[in-house]
Amino acid sequence: MAHTPIKKVCLVGANGTLGSVILKGLIQADCFDISVLQRSNSSSSSPSSIPRILVPPELPVEDVAKALTGQDAVIAAFPLGQGDQHLRLAEAAFQAGVQRFIPADFGSCDASDPEPQKYLPLYRKKTLVREKCEALAVQATQHGSAFSWTTVICGHFFDHGLRDGLLHIDFDTRTAQILDGGATKASTSTLRRIAEATVRVLQRAEQTRNRAVYVQSFNPSQLDVVAALEKAMGEPWHMQHIDSKPYLEDAQKRLKSEEPQAVLDAIEDIVFVLGALDADWTKRDGFAMDLLGLEDENLEDVVQEVVAAYRAEGSK
Ligand SMILES: NC(=O)c1ccc[n+]([C@@H]2O[C@H](COP(=O)([O-])OP(=O)(O)OC[C@H]3O[C@@H](n4cnc5c(N)ncnc54)[C@H](OP(=O)(O)O)[C@@H]3O)[C@@H](O)[C@H]2O)c1
Repeated sequence: MAHTPIKKVCLVGANGTLGSVILKGLIQADCFDISVLQRSNSSSSSPSSIPRILVPPELPVEDVAKALTGQDAVIAAFPLGQGDQHLRLAEAAFQAGVQRFIPADFGSCDASDPEPQKYLPLYRKKTLVREKCEALAVQATQHGSAFSWTTVICGHFFDHGLRDGLLHIDFDTRTAQILDGGATKASTSTLRRIAEATVRVLQRAEQTRNRAVYVQSFNPSQLDVVAALEKAMGEPWHMQHIDSKPYLEDAQKRLKSEEPQAVLDAIEDIVFVLGALDADWTKRDGFAMDLLGLEDENLEDVVQEVVAAYRAEGSK
């Protein structure tokens, strides 16, 4: 089936950590008619210039398909959470005749790898969504409909992760947790890089159809990141060395805790390890920086920006 350039783009999760930056990227690209899809009970607002599509909170397929009719692309940038909303959103996009669906992957690691799936239901869920997309794309070919998908795998959110604890970096105490000596390289992306990659996927729809694209801002080791932090702050950092094997075993035990916060902490600890030790996309077939016309950012410049933001908040 012939595809037309993607023009009408609907973003789900436009007020989120990643979604808000993707929205900015779509607006800056200045080539899309953008709308955002929200649950009807949502209390958050989006820029008044962007049309809002409201759907029932459970995202029922029939209602969402109706709401998405006429859209060329749908981007899911909201957490997997409980329930099957992501599977329903994919099905609704298919039924609406949407050309390109970008599921909520944006992973620290590749959800379809065996290790992540062994550790966390989150990655099994992401894989189910990818399998659903694959099945819908086959159905689309058989029935002459337009549906296709692209999943974006970006490594840890770098700028956001440096400050929110995901990277186990503590600015106040100048301490970094370092895994297995810290020399393993891992791909990692700023939020603006992920937004840029998402825009490029839509602009290069033919080359990116029905596949995963692996992107990065850079692929430093943890030791490289600490060196950049020391340079930006002009002082030495403490390194707390950790052996990943017992650390993961302990986190797996904590997953069974009855304390919801302990479970969340365990999930985040596991994600931290997987994204630091099993995420060098430069070695993957699907490494798509050239395909998307992207170049690495400069690690020291990005770290400098994050340090400047930290200092501007009135900290030391
Ligand atoms: N690689 C990494 O380091 C990393 C880190 C974090 C997340 N991620 C991934 O990035 C993606 C986005 O995560 P995020 O942390 O940016 O999300 P987030 O900030 O938690 O997303 C919040 C947004 O999602 C919307 N939302 C929440 N539940 C929804 C639902 N059931 N239906 C429709 N909209 C819903 C919210 O809408 P309202 O404003 O209307 O409430 C809000 O706009 C996910 O795929 C996640 O797995 C990756």
